[in-house]
Amino acid sequence: MNIISKLPTVGTTIFTVMSKMAVDNNAINLSQGFPNFPIDPLLVELLKQKASENIHQYNPMSGNPMLLSEIGLLIERSYQRKVQVENELLVTAGATQAIFTTIQALVHPNEEVVILDPSYDCYESPIVLSGGIPKRIPLNDSFLPNWELINQTVNEKTKLIITNNPHNPSGRIWSESDMRELEYLLHRFPNLLVLSDEVYEYITFEQKHLSVHSNEFLRSRSIVVSSFGKTFHITGWKIGYLVAPEFILKEIKKIHQFLVFCVNSVSQSVLADYLPLVKTEDLGGFYQEKRNFFREKLQSSRFELLDCEGTYFQLASYQKISDESDIDFTKRLATEFGVAAIPLSVFNSDNADRKLIRFCFAKDDETLTNAAERLCKI
Ligand SMILES: Cc1ncc(COP(=O)(O)O)c(C=O)c1O
Repeated sequence: MNIISKLPTVGTTIFTVMSKMAVDNNAINLSQGFPNFPIDPLLVELLKQKASENIHQYNPMSGNPMLLSEIGLLIERSYQRKVQVENELLVTAGATQAIFTTIQALVHPNEEVVILDPSYDCYESPIVLSGGIPKRIPLNDSFLPNWELINQTVNEKTKLIITNNPHNPSGRIWSESDMRELEYLLHRFPNLLVLSDEVYEYITFEQKHLSVHSNEFLRSRSIVVSSFGKTFHITGWKIGYLVAPEFILKEIKKIHQFLVFCVNSVSQSVLADYLPLVKTEDLGGFYQEKRNFFREKLQSSRFELLDCEGTYFQLASYQKISDESDIDFTKRLATEFGVAAIPLSVFNSDNADRKLIRFCFAKDDETLTNAAERLCKI
């Protein structure tokens, strides 16, 4: 029997390929973006306590009411935004489901969605599945928005622009002027909405993260996506949330109810108890130390390290080492030198190769030290 693929160009992701290569070659895995250190013992304790409570049945569709209210307080503390938790907030199975569901709810056939490359890999397929047209355009050479190009690309058929700040894979963060440019764009196109992927919102270093949440006009036209996986080192729990104006969230919930109905009740209950006890402000400092540690260890290597202002990713140029394609170089890095990384070209629709690779430094010090030792020998 033949089936016609709805996503004929989608294959195995580079993250799966590189993680398998890391295992097969006994390489240190700095490819996929997940922490390898233990989670907060308090989370483990809460999980144990909660397991024996009556928390194992379906939750309300939008989320556990206690968790919704704690998320509301977190957003207020972080961004001085008062969210109407009953109408503007939805707990999701990670940011991936939040993004998928939003796109399914909002994008109609032949409507365009702007994606800024290099971009995370979960944006394009939901657009294609909803019959929309992805318009992938490059960020500028510093991995910040190229507003001239964005202004030329957006038109009356553009339903959404997907933004990602702090940015994976570059680790760059937006400035005040980027936020202002986004405002101008929304003023020019009254039907345009923003899907603001802010999963690394609490992982910024010298400069503070500028969130769409903090701007009254921007948030009135945006769906803002967050991930507890990234914020609390629990990527495997697959839990996050989105915030959107009520008239938009109403449509998103229609899809959400048939996709998952509600998110895992145990993790919601644990996080409802955990949120009032934890300080998200400490996360930036925690990863800043890791970034500095890793960069320091690589100082004597032949890699050139690009600026990293947020996220737990470090971009490195290998131009002084090799003129291989970034895919070939990362394969050789894993097989010959025992370190798995991600080639940057896979984040670009045209696979543009700038001889850059991405390391994830959300790893314990021993892993980072061992990886750096190997990288310094190249
Ligand atoms: C930019 C970006 N958005 C979304 C996600 C997905 O987050 P989650 O694991 O919560 O689905 C990731 C995960 O790496 C990411 O880097």
